[in-house]
Amino acid sequence: MIGNLNHVGVATPSIEDSVKLYRDVLGATKIGEKFSMPEQGVWVCFVDLPNAQIELIEPYGDDSPIHGFLKHNPAGGQHHICFEVDDIIEARDEMKAKGARILGTGEPRIGAHGVPIIFVHPKDMGGVLIELMQKPEAGH
Ligand code: CO
Repeated sequence: MIGNLNHVGVATPSIEDSVKLYRDVLGATKIGEKFSMPEQGVWVCFVDLPNAQIELIEPYGDDSPIHGFLKHNPAGGQHHICFEVDDIIEARDEMKAKGARILGTGEPRIGAHGVPIIFVHPKDMGGVLIELMQKPEAGH
């Protein structure tokens, strides 16, 4: 059911510092501008790779869900992986039917790519926080 790997989410205490790693050490050349998603409590910055992206996420505000992760992983670390699906509602219902819990309200919300996303509970996914995103239209 899952399609392409869209991105790997990496939590960081400083997007600026992480950008230096991906640009200066690893040699990534296509790095977007940092932008905020206040309602999700995150700053986001995408590093484009030929076949996928790295999504750098930094806490935004005191209620950011990333604070807890950074408390356990002060240097940052791999936070989630995101796969594309054709239909987010179908995927959500299939996950639930198979016993996997959806985080939050269970309703898709609009993610950093402007398409609906859900998160599947890591305890039902072998310890990995899985994001499913509706496949962006071509050109996105
Ligand atoms: Co993500």
